[in-house]
Amino acid sequence: MHIALVSLFPEMFAAVTEHGVTGRAVKQGLVAVRHSNPRDYTVDKHRTVDDRPYGGGPGMLMKIDPLQQAIAAAREQAEQETGASAHVVYLSPQGRRFDHSRAVELAQKDALILVAGRYEGVDERLIETEVDEELSIGDYVLTGGELAAMVVIDAVTRQLPGVLGHEASAEEDSYANGLLDCPHYTRPEDYQGRVVPEVLLSGDHEKIRRWRLKQALGRTLERRPDLLEGRAMSPEEVELLAE
Ligand code: ADE
Repeated sequence: MHIALVSLFPEMFAAVTEHGVTGRAVKQGLVAVRHSNPRDYTVDKHRTVDDRPYGGGPGMLMKIDPLQQAIAAAREQAEQETGASAHVVYLSPQGRRFDHSRAVELAQKDALILVAGRYEGVDERLIETEVDEELSIGDYVLTGGELAAMVVIDAVTRQLPGVLGHEASAEEDSYANGLLDCPHYTRPEDYQGRVVPEVLLSGDHEKIRRWRLKQALGRTLERRPDLLEGRAMSPEEVELLAE
């Protein structure tokens, strides 16, 4: 997958491109990351990337031309390298909420362009003409779209074939089945008087699978009942919940 980042702060993305599972995916060539910085498309001495909002008020917007050209350059490169036209995402608190199912869908794309805004945002006409989709990572306001873009990169990358090892698969994720994850335990068997649930020591894989599913259901019901609305329950889940 090709991911282009349109940002005034490309260095920030080292957090996901150089470390951990996502960094390994980049090194293995499973993800090709490219950068396009609006500042490189400025023409004035001060390399200005912000501009005042019509109507006044505090704060600045991103200047239209450098941002538009940075997106255009990212589009061209994505098309050249993948032969496909890129899906352009603008990160903002006004976007539709990003979630697991959207991550799975975005992982199907050949090329993504993630546009990270700074200041108070970008001109609405640029969103109308250049952006396919506006996404928010949650109901809070960040100082820029970079962290949100990194959240998207991380969640999408781990859905790509070959990125997660055998030890962990995306299908077994919390959320993959619409439920929160069950609790996990490692050594020691007794930690400060708290012992590992006996069933996990039993070696009975079917019993363990049912226990984990029951735990996941119970947690979801308690902590995130909203996730269960509109989600069909299997007969086994109904039985486990009633136990
Ligand atoms: N930019 C600023 N806040 C954001 C948020 N909550 N989600 C996505 N992009 C953002």
